[in-house]
Formats: sequence, structure tokens, C-alpha cells
Amino acid sequence: MTDVKLVVQRFNPLEDKKPRLAEYSVPKREGMTVLDALLYARDYVDHSIALRFSCRQASCGSCGMKINGRPRLACYTQVKELQGERVLAQPMDNFAIVKDLVVDLDSFFAKHREMMPYLVRSDSKELDNPTGEFVMKPDELEKVLQFTYCIKCGLCTSSCPTVATDEKFPGPQALAQAYRYLADERDEGGELRLKALDTLHGVWRCHFAGSCSHVCPKGVDPALGIQLLRRHVLLGKATRKEGAKIWTPSATPE
Ligand code: SF4
Ligand code: FES
Repeated sequence: MTDVKLVVQRFNPLEDKKPRLAEYSVPKREGMTVLDALLYARDYVDHSIALRFSCRQASCGSCGMKINGRPRLACYTQVKELQGERVLAQPMDNFAIVKDLVVDLDSFFAKHREMMPYLVRSDSKELDNPTGEFVMKPDELEKVLQFTYCIKCGLCTSSCPTVATDEKFPGPQALAQAYRYLADERDEGGELRLKALDTLHGVWRCHFAGSCSHVCPKGVDPALGIQLLRRHVLLGKATRKEGAKIWTPSATPE
């Protein structure tokens, strides 16, 4: 069986002036993923290769990287599906490199948190002492279901040309999650989220390149989420009561 020519971008910002490419020869086997190849290189050839992973089954979102120039999950990419003579692994764009294939996701998660990715409600007594469940009807669930599949891998954000040019832009992942909660019939926090959304660097900054939806490994369509979010923001502004703290679900578009 032939070997895989694995090329890894190496860079330690504490020691190196610029990134370099290092080549490793990895014995190919049936079903081998790029993550398998990287782990072989790290375990048997060079222990100093830095990469991030956990679940190995496209669930945790840890192993996002650029593989042969495209953002992908390393554990979800089989070597044999790649074109070309070599497998090139590089860190995701639009993030600072911590080391080799590991990037700094702090700002990514901070932007996610800023969107308040949880249900906001005004009935604090019920929240403190629940007397029942906040039930969703199937058609209400359908509106947000695909957005709940996000595993926060960052691939969409790494592919976004607007993120590349505006560091204050929340990015497709955060905006799609803002939509996920705004469109939830049980949520009342739209007015609060407007502070982060309806700004110069917010939801209007997207120019609909669509690369986010193209690279998502979980079938989420963040570009669609952003367009629906814009509709929500406009409808919310049109229907909200002056001075209201909470945006009521009546602003939800069909
Ligand atoms: S929307 Fe898709 S690509 Fe973006 S973080 Fe979520 S799972 Fe990853
Ligand atoms: S290791 Fe968890 S998504 Fe790849």
C-alpha cells in the first residue's frame, strides 16, 4: 500500500518568524481520515505537531482546519476523497495561530456569547419555579431546527470574507445562532440582542458571499440565517412598542 504525503503547516509564534511546511510520509490504510494521518505523524514521527481534536466523529467541532485549501473537519475528511498527490493541512483562516494547526477561538466564542444563545423570557417567577414545560410545536421547531445542528467548529467564520476585513463583525456562526433564538417562539429577547445585531458592524455588514453555507459540515445554512435575521430585525423594529424592554414573539415572520 502506498504512503500518504502529508504536508503540515508548522508555526510557533513564540519561536518562528514565519510559517513553514513540513512533509511526513504516512502509511495509507482503508478509511483513513486526515485526522488519522495527522495523529500517525504526531505519534510516530514528530511529537511536536500541535492539533486539536476530541470526538473523532464530527460532533465536537474541535478539528476544524484548512485541508487542501478548503475549511473542513479533519475527522470527517477521508484521505481518499481528496484530489492531488498530497494532503496539505493548515490552520483555519481568520483566526490567530496558537501553534501549528491550533487557532485561538476566544473571540469566536465571545461573539457567540454576545448573541445571548439561550432563551430570554420575562416570566422570571415561572423560570425560578417552573409549573410546566416550554413546549414547541413541530412547525415552530422546523423554523430553527437546522441552526441547532451547529457544532461551533468555526469553519464558516474562517471562510467568511467579511470576517477577514472587519474584526468587529460577529461572523456567520454567531449571527446564525442569533437567528436560531430570535425565531424561537418561546424567546422574548430580541430587543436585547438588537444592540449587537443592528449596528454598523452587525447583521447589515454581510454581503452574502455564501461561503459559510458552502463549507458547513453539518448542513447549517448560516447565509440563510443572516438573511432571515435581517427580516426579523426590520419587522421587530416596525412592531416593537416604544421603550419596550422585551421584543414579543408577535414580531416573528411567517
Ligand atoms: S454553522 Fe456550520 S460551519 Fe459554522 S460553526 Fe456551526 S457547524 Fe461549524
Ligand atoms: S474531532 Fe470532533 S469534530 Fe472532529
